[in-house]
Amino acid sequence: MKKLYIVYSLLVLMILGIAACKKLLPKAPKDDEILDGPVEGLTAEEKIRFLEGDRAFNNEIFTSETGLGPYFVANSCGSCHAGDGKGHPFTTLTRFGQADSTGNTYMNFGAPQLQNRAIPGFSPEQIPAGAAFSKFTPPANTGLGFLEALTDVQILANADPTDANNDGISGVPNYVNAPAYFIPKSHHITWSGKFVGRFGKKAAAIDLWNQTVNAYVQDMGITSEYAMLEPAINGVASPYGDPTPDPEVPSSRVQNLIFYLRTLKAPVQRDQNNSDVQAGKQVFMNIGCEKCHKAEWTTQKADINALSYKTFYPYTDLLLHDMGSGLNDGYTEGTAKTSEWRTPPLWGLGLSKNSQGGQYFLLHDGRATSIQQAIEMHGGEGQSSNSAYQSLSQTEKDQLIKFLESL
Ligand code: HEC
Ligand code: HEC
Repeated sequence: MKKLYIVYSLLVLMILGIAACKKLLPKAPKDDEILDGPVEGLTAEEKIRFLEGDRAFNNEIFTSETGLGPYFVANSCGSCHAGDGKGHPFTTLTRFGQADSTGNTYMNFGAPQLQNRAIPGFSPEQIPAGAAFSKFTPPANTGLGFLEALTDVQILANADPTDANNDGISGVPNYVNAPAYFIPKSHHITWSGKFVGRFGKKAAAIDLWNQTVNAYVQDMGITSEYAMLEPAINGVASPYGDPTPDPEVPSSRVQNLIFYLRTLKAPVQRDQNNSDVQAGKQVFMNIGCEKCHKAEWTTQKADINALSYKTFYPYTDLLLHDMGSGLNDGYTEGTAKTSEWRTPPLWGLGLSKNSQGGQYFLLHDGRATSIQQAIEMHGGEGQSSNSAYQSLSQTEKDQLIKFLESL
């Protein structure tokens, strides 16, 4: 009997122990909270390519032996874009040198990006005196292939540069110079040699190829066939290379990485049937948020079948909007004004604090630490929907936030 009692007590202790551990351990993320997965419908061959790109993005950590630097910001894509979610202000990038649409006058001083770290033997870059600058937090990298598959015509259909419909919201594309390796697709249109930018906070990158090549060379000092020169700094054009022969990364790996970005799935909305979430969506529509954060898009035929004819919900128009003096950093890219920012997609918003250390850091530099604050900082073209938000009842505000957190 006594023996049985001991066995019984041990069992109770074990169960209690397991329950206690469960409390201490972080919860495993649910399927609809994981961002790092492929879109549905890839072929077996495409899945292999996705995994190769995933490895290049998350597992390839550069060292000075494999080409890192000489000037750099971080040593892998994944170190700033952890789990493909939004990044912490700790991994912010600084860009400098362009104060209006006439171009960057600090190119000989290492503009546009500040490389604040260097391999041994080199000194990190500093912002030259007098140069305008801005800080950017890493955005999430999810669902970008769908955005890339949209045609320029689809994007321009929402532009209203002269505010012809008189709603106080214009929306303009950023026209940018294409890099030499850029091969326009049938859905790109050109204006006097410039193309519509759609990625980055100022929409300065035309496509994911453009964004990836820049990230390799500007963020990590990794040269590729597409960008053979290491970034120069402080006006010293040469010699500025590291000992690793260029290109430091093969084109096949760059292309696999681009394929990975193109086929990363889009975040799935959670709690879609919750009545507060549904009411919050209605509020979002009513107070004009959707004029810029455009909910629904459908792709046309794409060169990756899984991206063809797909309807998706990114909540962006991919256009630039003047957000007023509070969000004017004095720095810009392409033809964007200093107070203009590309509408960021809101899909994945509710999940972003998971990858930001448990707290929100929103807007281009992470200055807003809650969704409410981000809305209240909307000025310029965003002022009237911000004012409409402020006059909502508490219940409507709560419903709106609940909806935004479900994205
Ligand atoms: C030092 C941190 C850092 C590293 C390293 C880094 N990124 Fe980024 N990434 C950022 C920041 C910050 C932005 C926003 C830049 C901008 O808006 O122009 C960004 C933007 C992007 C975007 C645009 C997303 C969008 O929605 O517009 C893509 C795609 C991207 N990075 C891919 C990569 C890839 C691929 C690599 C590695 C080759 C990489 N990044 C390395 C910080 C980083
Ligand atoms: C005039 C266009 C416009 C309207 C209208 C607008 N937004 Fe925005 N929104 C933007 C732009 C542009 C940014 C990015 C500004 C920045 O990064 O400094 C932004 C940023 C945000 C962010 C932060 C996202 C992030 O990833 O950091 C949230 C949240 C947001 N908006 C929600 C709303 C809500 C809710 C409404 C309606 C009350 C609204 N917006 C109305 C253009 C708009």
